[in-house]
Amino acid sequence: MTIHSILKMGEARLLRVARPVQEFDTPELRQLVQDMLDTMRHAQGAGLAAPQIGVDLQVVVFGSDSANPRYPDRPLVPFTVLINPVVTPLGPETALDWEGCLSVPGLRGKVPRWLRIRYTGVDLHGGAIDREAEGFHARVVQHECDHLAGILYPMRMQDFTQFGFTEVLFPDMASVQED
Ligand code: NI
Repeated sequence: MTIHSILKMGEARLLRVARPVQEFDTPELRQLVQDMLDTMRHAQGAGLAAPQIGVDLQVVVFGSDSANPRYPDRPLVPFTVLINPVVTPLGPETALDWEGCLSVPGLRGKVPRWLRIRYTGVDLHGGAIDREAEGFHARVVQHECDHLAGILYPMRMQDFTQFGFTEVLFPDMASVQED
């Protein structure tokens, strides 16, 4: 089990466009995915992208259940390893909701996202993934895939009055280990 330190906003490696994975089911890729899952769980994140641990590859992991204290009362998101993803909006509707990011510790902001999406890609073994998602699930996927394009959620925000410290915005969550 290897917990990596997570790069924080301001680090140039978070702004790169990540390279696609070419070879699947390799020991190196398996190790990367395991390290990402360990790091995400340790940080109590709902997702993590390879660039956040300094790896320049199109790999994201995500998933959330009701046991996650950073995102209580959120719908379940299936635990997923998604490689070389493509996200397509399904319809014009957007939704505005709070997001946090392990690379932007201690803060939350309201971010507009597509309400419904289709996402495709492959799993660790190169098997196809093709899903439709909406709401929080769709938001998490868009957030993580943005990391692969060098985009952090504040770069998507339109109203900076809706941006602040988690402990101020959500005092009830003050006891939660934050980022
Ligand atoms: Ni993030």
